[in-house]
Amino acid sequence: MPSKNAQENWGASLGAILAVAGSAVGLGNFLRFPGQVALHGGGAFMIPYVIALFVIAIPLAMSEWALGRYAGRMGFHSPLGALYVAGGRKIRWGFAGCLNTFSPFVIAMYYIVIEAWCLAYAAQYLGGLLQHVGLGFSLFSDVAPGLKFESTSGYEEFFGRLVGVGQDGSLFGSGARAILWTTLACAAMNFFLIYKGVSKGIERFCKAVAPLILLCAVAVIIRVVTLGNPTGTPGQSFLDGLGFMWNPTREIVNASGEVVGRATLAQSLFNPEVWLAATAQIFFSTSICFGAICTYASYVKSRGDVALSSVSAVATNEFCEVVLGGLMTVPPAIMFLGAAASKSVGSSFALGFNVLPNVFGLMPMGQLCGFVLFTLLFLAAITSSVSMVQPAVALFQDSLQWSRKQSAVVVSSINLVGTAIVSWFTKDLMALDVFDFWVANLMPFMGGALQTCVIVFVWGNASLMTELKRGARINPPKRLGGFLKYVTFPYLLLVFGFWAWKNMADRVEQIATQFVPKLSVLFMLSVLAAILLLGFVSMKRWTRLESLGLNSNNQPQA
Ligand code: TRP
Repeated sequence: MPSKNAQENWGASLGAILAVAGSAVGLGNFLRFPGQVALHGGGAFMIPYVIALFVIAIPLAMSEWALGRYAGRMGFHSPLGALYVAGGRKIRWGFAGCLNTFSPFVIAMYYIVIEAWCLAYAAQYLGGLLQHVGLGFSLFSDVAPGLKFESTSGYEEFFGRLVGVGQDGSLFGSGARAILWTTLACAAMNFFLIYKGVSKGIERFCKAVAPLILLCAVAVIIRVVTLGNPTGTPGQSFLDGLGFMWNPTREIVNASGEVVGRATLAQSLFNPEVWLAATAQIFFSTSICFGAICTYASYVKSRGDVALSSVSAVATNEFCEVVLGGLMTVPPAIMFLGAAASKSVGSSFALGFNVLPNVFGLMPMGQLCGFVLFTLLFLAAITSSVSMVQPAVALFQDSLQWSRKQSAVVVSSINLVGTAIVSWFTKDLMALDVFDFWVANLMPFMGGALQTCVIVFVWGNASLMTELKRGARINPPKRLGGFLKYVTFPYLLLVFGFWAWKNMADRVEQIATQFVPKLSVLFMLSVLAAILLLGFVSMKRWTRLESLGLNSNNQPQA
């Protein structure tokens, strides 16, 4: 029986790198990273961060690309299928890939909501800009065009009402529907790109927006760097802003804003939470061990390069994160708001949506800058969110032999249910927080450990190296396998163990005692159960086909 699914591939080898970089570069780079650095001791954070980059990100990126391309050659594109083939077509190893199919899919459910916030803010700023030519508009009937309020609390209130932090279901009431519309618009755009396919949808879009993202970032940075000391207050110049972000020693400020001491470099480094936060940031930001890269790599042509591409994609992500993300957001917050900003920059959402609009309100050309920055965030977010949905689409194609279009419709519909839950339970952003905690924090450690375990102990060093060398434009490091086994894997387990010990108990109690966390976790567990079931049935079928000498598409094996 001929397959409905013709093999999809990236059009160009640069296309694969751009798409993976597009997946990696997102809100994590421009909002989460600066927030985490500021929160965990500035420059001191960068030491465990760089270590995690070399111990976790680079080796795992190389192995994930190799795994993905190997699976793609065998006709499997979902992370589940990838670990199934790499694990010698054993069902138990396929199960190890379930988490990496599940996690990006669930992240997409709430990531799209944040993407929609960015779109709404960009639109609101555009409304303010157009005011000058008489076309100003506002997403809120009672807010003037643009985003300009008298006080910090004005910005906070605007954000709170826009996203509905006051009450569950408030977004569905009259007067505050703006976010629902932008959320639907984002969901539709994601659907459209996935429906169009890997090279005609995702690759083309990433190619088109990559220069735009860079341009927007450079424009914002030029504005920030040329501000000097805008308020004239000592300690609030551009260099002070940079210092706040990068100095390895830090003044400790208590809740009422008084300096109560100074944290030394050693103190920051002896705090295991800093190591944990740095590792989690590396995972989140590079999208490694979330299944997305494995799926994207499965569309690399069988003679294409993965060794150099994987490292290039990580390097691009790090440039956008450390250089661009590090200059764009925290320094201006300190320059305009001083130490007062330092308390809120640590939370990634507060930084983007409460603190920065405040800064743009005070800055010359702030409305324009706000528009450019939120456009950038929105574009970077959408190239990430499409990559989160693709592994699930690939799973339906792999397992049920559905066409891409069919799979895209079904997966996007399920996704919309999750997005609806997050959009309904907005009080204190509870549902979003629960989704984020369990999936974005826990899954890369668990899914990553499982994936690395299969790569290292089952697929094996020899297969990994053979795959990496295929079409390679650089010589892959000879000792990669050993490094993964003796350094990366134990490091991963260590940090994960510490993370679980630190965080699990409180969060489990939260599920036991509160309705929204319970519901959200139940929903996520049902998605996971569905993936496990689908995976189980498909793996049984693949195993049967294999014994008949056919591949997963019912065709004779190559
Ligand atoms: N890396 C993305 C960012 O920096 C976010 C992200 C997290 C992601 N997990 C993912 C992207 C899984 C794709 C797949 O914003």
